[in-house]
Amino acid sequence: MTDMERRGRATEAFFGRRKGKALRGQQAEKLSTLLPAFLIDISAAHPEPLKNLWPVPVEKLRLEIGFGGGEHLIHRAQELPSTGFIGVEPFINSMQKLLASVEDRGARNVRVFNDDATQLLDWLPDGCLDQIDLLYPDPWPKRKHWKRRFVSRTNLTRFHRVLKPGGLFCFASDIDTYVNWTLLKCRDHGGFDWLASNAADWLTPYEGWPSTRYEAKARREGRSSAYLTFRRT
Ligand SMILES: C[S@@+](CC[C@H](N)C(=O)[O-])C[C@H]1O[C@@H](n2cnc3c(N)ncnc32)[C@H](O)[C@@H]1O
Repeated sequence: MTDMERRGRATEAFFGRRKGKALRGQQAEKLSTLLPAFLIDISAAHPEPLKNLWPVPVEKLRLEIGFGGGEHLIHRAQELPSTGFIGVEPFINSMQKLLASVEDRGARNVRVFNDDATQLLDWLPDGCLDQIDLLYPDPWPKRKHWKRRFVSRTNLTRFHRVLKPGGLFCFASDIDTYVNWTLLKCRDHGGFDWLASNAADWLTPYEGWPSTRYEAKARREGRSSAYLTFRRT
């Protein structure tokens, strides 16, 4: 039996922790009321059109995989109120934090999924997304763990299917080997064009970039980042 078969479909691309410090009473209570209101139910077929997932009219659709503390997701959701956002994060403490700020700020254009993003990707209809953000994905720096990296030929094929032609895949990382890995995987896949004409393009953060918790950690530890943008062909 291969490693993948042993792990089963439910955890195809998720190798991290689902729980951290126990949530305090009030936090747990908030999560249990907010999560059902924002959670996407992938056991049912997706709504037609997908835009009906949000209770407000949305024009563009965007997915953030592994939103961690959620600072980027909530920032973008407020910056772009007519874009529908889907945030995916299996770590329950991060989900609680995001939903608390979604509620505080009244962001109605956010929906969430709390498990492996590959399941959500497989549920989405073809060509529905304008953008996918994969920001500081788990780096798996040891060579023997590289196969756990979220960027793989299989997942790029998933991205390619759900992105509109011309849609964007944005990838940020502070780990050189993962940046090179992603450039090579996208080149070999053949369905993505890297939109960079000079070094400034990939060393400059995305427009309106609010930074993230993992980026702050990378800076404290002396690492710089690359910000790659690919266009789905
Ligand atoms: C290194 S953290 C980065 C968090 C955040 N993007 C940031 O920049 O601060 C990677 C996050 O991806 C999440 N993650 C890992 N594998 C995932 C998967 N298969 N689907 C969804 N999220 C995943 C982890 O739980 C973790 O919160």
